[in-house]
Amino acid sequence: MTDLHALQEEIKSRVAEACDVHSVEQIRITYLGRKGTLTRLFQKLGSVKPAQRRELGQALNALKSYSESVLRDKLRDLATEPEGLDPAFDPTLPGVRPCVGRLHPITQTIRMICDVFVRLGFEIVDGREVETEFHNFTALNIPLDHPSRDAFDTFYTDTGGLLRSQTSTVQIRQMQKRKPPLRVIAPGKVFRPDAVDASHSFMFHQIEGLMVDRDTTFSDLKGILHVFLRKLFGKNIRMRYRPHFFPFTEPSVEVDVSWGKGWLELLGAGQVDPAVFQAVGYDPRQVQGFAFGLGVERIAMLKYGIKDIRLFFENDLRFLRQF
Ligand code: DAH
Repeated sequence: MTDLHALQEEIKSRVAEACDVHSVEQIRITYLGRKGTLTRLFQKLGSVKPAQRRELGQALNALKSYSESVLRDKLRDLATEPEGLDPAFDPTLPGVRPCVGRLHPITQTIRMICDVFVRLGFEIVDGREVETEFHNFTALNIPLDHPSRDAFDTFYTDTGGLLRSQTSTVQIRQMQKRKPPLRVIAPGKVFRPDAVDASHSFMFHQIEGLMVDRDTTFSDLKGILHVFLRKLFGKNIRMRYRPHFFPFTEPSVEVDVSWGKGWLELLGAGQVDPAVFQAVGYDPRQVQGFAFGLGVERIAMLKYGIKDIRLFFENDLRFLRQF
């Protein structure tokens, strides 16, 4: 009986090691063939004392069916294993961890900002990067000979188009195709022929906001910006409205924020100028509203303590992995 047990272990390990159909067949012949080990043991059964014959017979039968079944299983495994498996492939080695990407810090900042405005009922809309003179300047109350064109100057295409230098163009596009009331927010790229340094880039991102209704006032603007800036920078933030000039708003302000010492200019805003409403066919006696525009890089730099705007556009993974 002890020998039978050892025999079972032997068959088991030889079957486990077999790596093709041929060696499985060899094992079958060795143990179950006409001259196989088990076959010969069956033949010897007759010479065993009757008292032990029954027990030994049962054990032999059990071993035989065990062997048949492991051989059958092995053949099935071999048949389903993919062909041409590289013998050097070691499935027990740890895998190669896939590189998981993440959102660019500018994208994260845009989403964070838009999130706040969406909750305030604003709809996210899109414009164009290649624009017309009308949308970037004329309709925004910046006539050809007006000196404030200089501040928003841009790149021009051969065919008379231009790369928009402000997302304010989306105000015009939205009002041209929709009727008031309107509450939209428009994130996107803008372009200016600026020399690149730590705080300037020829391409950066802005988010434009526009709300138009029958009686949308400057205090609505203040309320919205108050909620927004506190959500973004925390409840301890202080805000200041400084009179300013923008051609497309009247009155216009620049909004500064402070955490205690010093003020930082953060965004431009104001009540939409009646001339802009006229340019898109709205009646300035029927509607009023506010607009604002902010630079995304500026907010991201403040939020994450980044000192150089160029870091955003160099695609250096050591920088990008930190967000
Ligand atoms: N378009 C302005 C810029 O690029 C930002 C701006 C200021 C947008 C005031 C506005 C606004 O909508 O009301 O500097």
